Amino acid sequence: MLIISSRSALLSVYYPQIFLILTSGSYLALSSVVALGANIICNKIPGLAPRQRALCQSRPDAIIVIGKGAQLGINECQYQFRYGRWNCSALGERTVFGQELRVGSREAAFTYAITAAGVAHAVTAACSQGNLSQCGCDREKQGYQDQEEGWKWGGCSADVKYGVEFSRRFVDAREIKKNARRLMNLHNNEAGRKILEERMKLECKCHGVSGSCTTKTCWITLPKFREIGYLLKERYSDAVQVEPVRASRLRQPSFLRLKEARGYQKPMDTDLVYLERSPNYCEEDTATGSTGTRGRLCNGTSTHTDGCNVMCCGRGYNTHHYTRVWQCNCKFHWCCFVKCNTCSEKSEVFTCK
Ligand SMILES: *[C@@H]1O[C@H](CO)[C@@H](O)[C@H](O)[C@H]1NC(C)=O
Ligand SMILES: *[C@@H]1O[C@H](CO)[C@@H](O)[C@H](O)[C@H]1NC(C)=O
Ligand SMILES: *[C@@H]1O[C@H](CO)[C@@H](O)[C@H](O)[C@H]1NC(C)=O
Repeated sequence: MLIISSRSALLSVYYPQIFLILTSGSYLALSSVVALGANIICNKIPGLAPRQRALCQSRPDAIIVIGKGAQLGINECQYQFRYGRWNCSALGERTVFGQELRVGSREAAFTYAITAAGVAHAVTAACSQGNLSQCGCDREKQGYQDQEEGWKWGGCSADVKYGVEFSRRFVDAREIKKNARRLMNLHNNEAGRKILEERMKLECKCHGVSGSCTTKTCWITLPKFREIGYLLKERYSDAVQVEPVRASRLRQPSFLRLKEARGYQKPMDTDLVYLERSPNYCEEDTATGSTGTRGRLCNGTSTHTDGCNVMCCGRGYNTHHYTRVWQCNCKFHWCCFVKCNTCSEKSEVFTCK
């Protein structure tokens, strides 16, 4: 089943809960991709850059994994920003997209980094599990003995280089326009992947009589994606504002430099970079991709971003009373039944006006 809505460039097939961000402003939901030929799928996905379409056709198996990776990124984004005015919701829904990433804000920086990292993570994991035809365990890390440390490579080392390279080839291929946004997006994609690479872990196992470590084998594993989410959230908080620099004569921007710096200071590889200040996300605004905070749940006592004052932008909030009912004081009676009381508690939730 293919549903294509032209305006929002949405393709939806059957594969539970997979949404892909493939091109700026074009999102894809995959359902039974497997049931449809690669040609059909790859030709029907709207807005694919030519290189993406070619990669899709030559590696249809990878498209599903790419979809999982993008979904991993979106889910993590929504988790990390669940208490924020901007909660990453537009990324997973069919409504506001396209608009979402138009402003070169910190939030856009985060979504690019986490999507690129998600794709690299998913591809690497799929390689390790033998799910993709052209990759597997990292062959460079097999058999060799590390003389100094006294251990040897064993098991399956995750081939993160392959995953990263695949993410680069596919995710970065959507940046066709030669403008400052392209530089920003590419930088953030790379930062996300770099942070993933830096977090690869060495795991070891001892072999020998009753746990003695006569021989030790080690291998490289992927970190949990949650860890990458937290790291990128920190990077988001410390994101730096940049501006494009045009090399003389050429009119295209050729690199980015820190906006507030004297001289030509470039951002660090793992910095998230943004071009424009963020909107406050208080009101709905399709131009900035803000869904606004009307109707959002807020916390009456918190002083953080989830507190009603901050979340509702001073508009005030509605209080909803309800009674929570649950089974309590359950006792086991001989023989054989359990008898419980019903307990209840008055409770309230707040939603922004
Ligand atoms: C590999 O394939 C199996 C079977 O289709 C699936 O259950 C698993 O989730 C896949 N692993 C990855 C990392 O995609
Ligand atoms: C995010 O915000 C939108 C709009 O205010 C809301 O509809 C949605 O339920 C929120 N999502 C989460 C995960 O809290
Ligand atoms: C509201 O915020 C307070 C303080 O941060 C916290 O202790 C409490 O668990 C929160 N309540 C809910 C319902 O999240």
